[in-house]
Amino acid sequence: MSGTQSSVSCEMRARLERDFERFKRELPRDLTHYIRGAYRIDLTARYLGYTVPHPVGKASGQLSLSPEQLETDRAAGLAFAVLKTVIAQEAAGERSMGAWAVHETRMKVERRRSATNREGWTVTWKGRGWDRSFDEYLSLVRTAADLTRSGEMVVVPSVKYHLPRLGEAFRADEYRYTTERLSSAWGDGELPLEKDFSPTLAGDELADEQEQILRWLREVPGEVRRAAGDVPVRLALKLMNARFDVAFQVRMLEVARSADALVLFNRLWDPVLGVAYGGHDLSERNLRVLDASRAQGITLPPFTGTGNIDSGRTILRYALAGCESVQLHTFFQLPLSEYPATEGSRPQRALHALLFHPEDGLLAGMLDLEAQEALGRRDGELRFLDLPNSHSKHESPSEAKPEKGGIPGVQ
Ligand SMILES: Cc1cc2nc3c(=O)[nH]c(=O)nc-3n(C[C@H](O)[C@H](O)[C@H](O)COP(=O)(O)O)c2cc1C
Repeated sequence: MSGTQSSVSCEMRARLERDFERFKRELPRDLTHYIRGAYRIDLTARYLGYTVPHPVGKASGQLSLSPEQLETDRAAGLAFAVLKTVIAQEAAGERSMGAWAVHETRMKVERRRSATNREGWTVTWKGRGWDRSFDEYLSLVRTAADLTRSGEMVVVPSVKYHLPRLGEAFRADEYRYTTERLSSAWGDGELPLEKDFSPTLAGDELADEQEQILRWLREVPGEVRRAAGDVPVRLALKLMNARFDVAFQVRMLEVARSADALVLFNRLWDPVLGVAYGGHDLSERNLRVLDASRAQGITLPPFTGTGNIDSGRTILRYALAGCESVQLHTFFQLPLSEYPATEGSRPQRALHALLFHPEDGLLAGMLDLEAQEALGRRDGELRFLDLPNSHSKHESPSEAKPEKGGIPGVQ
């Protein structure tokens, strides 16, 4: 590193310390504009083909059930949010996956120690999909479409459609009715959609058969597109962690190629407790699978990471594994005492820690990579999207390579 470079870097570090302290009460109004000006770091990211100002979004779940929650996320400056998963239905209201629409309100935010003895957080909860009426969901989809069109925050609906046993046909009526209603609530243009393969599904006897899971991943995108008819759909498959080994998880990736994007991977299933869980076991498994798929040179659609994203450093690990953005749930639910910020909503406090933490934050991590000459500036800027694009073999429109070599240890 040259003398000038290192003095610039010292200045940035000092600034980061100061910003971390002063933003504990409130984040700057135009967050990413500020970061670009102050650090010459461009956090632009992508989710489901949308260009978003930074990589941090909210994953589908109990934190995206209402317009009020979305408004809090917008005000906090989240890049995107995914609505709670609705269970598909046909015109008469029948739902083949109806067992997933159970009502259960009690969520417990708990510490969970991983197999490698690392203390993390998980949310223990026995509910499943959206448990109010489909019409109420459609009304939330209208709010989502308005927010997305306003350019303030991308908000995407999520569905759990019928999944047949081997030899059984897909219930086309259910696919058609649900997709048509969602698309007319969304209004003009492409309908963005996540299709959830949940951990509760992984724990179900439906998912005992590997061939069955592979068929779903291969055929669901076609079913959704057929159901949408003339309406274009932009479809992300959110893959579960199946109860099989890493090699099978990589096979799942291989067959999910016809999606427009992937969300990788939903929580693990604890068959003893009968609950889904997260924590470090989840991120370690997810990253192991992504590394294995890269080592095998598998070409994937663009993808977004989910699972135990608890710091900017973890965002960086997912980005280096090829993720163009990340979706969080648990980190938005921690006790207030866990966030270094002293004021603001949980999404605001979370963003503050994820971006500005002087050791574990994303900005600190990107500056470290620069100091190691592992990430170069282009036109004077460090770019978040240079991380996934520097090594991963996925099909996103490729950006020019960073000026300086690659990222060590991720080939
Ligand atoms: C209480 C709870 C409810 C969830 N509900 C859904 C859901 O309806 N659909 C879905 O795709 N994922 C759901 N998830 C999974 C999250 O979206 C997320 O992918 C997962 O929890 C991993 O991220 P995290 O470790 O940051 O929590 C839920 C997670 C939790 C904790």
